[in-house]
Amino acid sequence: MHRLKAQPAFRVMIRECGKLKNVCAVILAAGDGKRMKSVGPKVLCEVLFKPMIHWVADACAGAGLDKLCVVLGPGGDAVREILPSRMFAVDQQERKGTGHAVMMAADYIRNGGFEDVVVLCGDAPFITPQDIAGSYREHKEQENAVTVLSAKVRDPYGYGRVVRAGRGIVSIVEEKDADAVIGKLGEINSGAFWFNAVFLLKALEELTCDNTQSEYYLTDTVAIANRSELRAGAFLLPHPNAVLGANDRHGLQMLNTVARRSVLDRLLESGVNIPFEDGVIVSADAGIAAGTTLLPGTIVKGSAIIGKNCTIGPNSFVEDARIGDECLVISSYITRSTLESGVKIGPMSNVRPGCHIKTGAKIGDFVELKNSVVGEHTAVAHLTYVGDSDVGARCNFGCGVVTVNYDGAQKHRTTIGDDAFVGCNTNLVAPVRMGNRSYSAAGTTVTEDVPDDSLVIGRAKQTIKKSWNKGDGRYKKQ
Ligand code: UD1
Ligand code: CA
Repeated sequence: MHRLKAQPAFRVMIRECGKLKNVCAVILAAGDGKRMKSVGPKVLCEVLFKPMIHWVADACAGAGLDKLCVVLGPGGDAVREILPSRMFAVDQQERKGTGHAVMMAADYIRNGGFEDVVVLCGDAPFITPQDIAGSYREHKEQENAVTVLSAKVRDPYGYGRVVRAGRGIVSIVEEKDADAVIGKLGEINSGAFWFNAVFLLKALEELTCDNTQSEYYLTDTVAIANRSELRAGAFLLPHPNAVLGANDRHGLQMLNTVARRSVLDRLLESGVNIPFEDGVIVSADAGIAAGTTLLPGTIVKGSAIIGKNCTIGPNSFVEDARIGDECLVISSYITRSTLESGVKIGPMSNVRPGCHIKTGAKIGDFVELKNSVVGEHTAVAHLTYVGDSDVGARCNFGCGVVTVNYDGAQKHRTTIGDDAFVGCNTNLVAPVRMGNRSYSAAGTTVTEDVPDDSLVIGRAKQTIKKSWNKGDGRYKKQ
């Protein structure tokens, strides 16, 4: 099955065919997602936790293409918010077809002085850097005015059909405009094209909406090239996934299923152990080293990096985290944090953003960490909250410790030195520091700094009332 990520061999290929020079991409993203029943543009729909538009932008980046212009429709501001700053955006307020959408980018193309332009669909996430670079090479070698990225699919219904003749193509005919003979052609338009920029700008001026849908078809540029005695070619994509898009929630689920399968296959082949894949979902941008086991119910989101020989799961969630070698994450959440090697988390703990947990540290059950450093071989074993804290090496936290980091207005930091022993049920009222090798007695509320090597006891003195129970039934079971 086709892989969704750039492989090292591909980088060599890019080097061979040279960087894509003097080119830009126009990404069509004015679709409204009405059938998704979602409020807002379709390209925001996520495949493996990543908006479709980001898949396409990442494929461009993977091919070394960094001049990108996105065509947005109504509601485009929501898309603008998540676009990388290097991306330019233009508006297409009225949806008058793919040709009309590219017209909106004409100034961008003209002003950039680009030699070639690749047009991509923002709602077809599986185009790869290889597809973009491979088709560019063919486009240049054949000196085409336009090169359509085509595919052979089992059911061509609904797609534009590619009509070949001799070494090139003569036209693309839309489903709604096709007769019986053309309707039977199995090679379809993926929706992506390479254009010579000068040709494209001229062809856009010649487009008409003289067709059954009364739209400006970008596909008509093929016939225009032929009329102008310029070459039009088709680059047959080696896999049909690049044409996959989604019109409704069923389609979106299908994209997720395809992407998930592809990522799991890649991981299995690279030596990641997934004995049962129930509920195991890994984003396409995550990196997991060989020898690591993913157990059922484990979700790895974003660009998480996980080292070798770890066990993640069952039922764990890792998002944008860096995890070293030989770590254990059992039924726990790790978000935007770093775990060095040999760290054990869980079961049932929550490592919130901004944590750095150093080698050999142990975070046990029902522990919440936030924006904190935990030193080497420190143990925070049970029922504890550590927030906005810097904890040294080889400390031990008893059960039920709380760093009191919030005074209702501001957050404050707690500092704990090396080799400290924080007794059960200690409250550390920040800002406060416990020194190296210091101890706190169980139940202490620490409000002032504790010097190195000292013991702090801060709790009500115990009193005993002898013979208080007179046996007169003070305590009765209801
Ligand atoms: C288009 C192609 C068809 C191809 C198919 C692949 C044309 C005329 N037809 O058809 O040959 O097989 O894609 O999926 O080009 N868009 C805009 N503004 C518009 C119209 C579309 O931005 O006014 C964007 C859409 O958001 C989408 C892309 O262009 O990303 C394709 O549009 P879509 O409506 O899916 O085109 P199809 O009719 O499917
Ligand atoms: Ca389409």
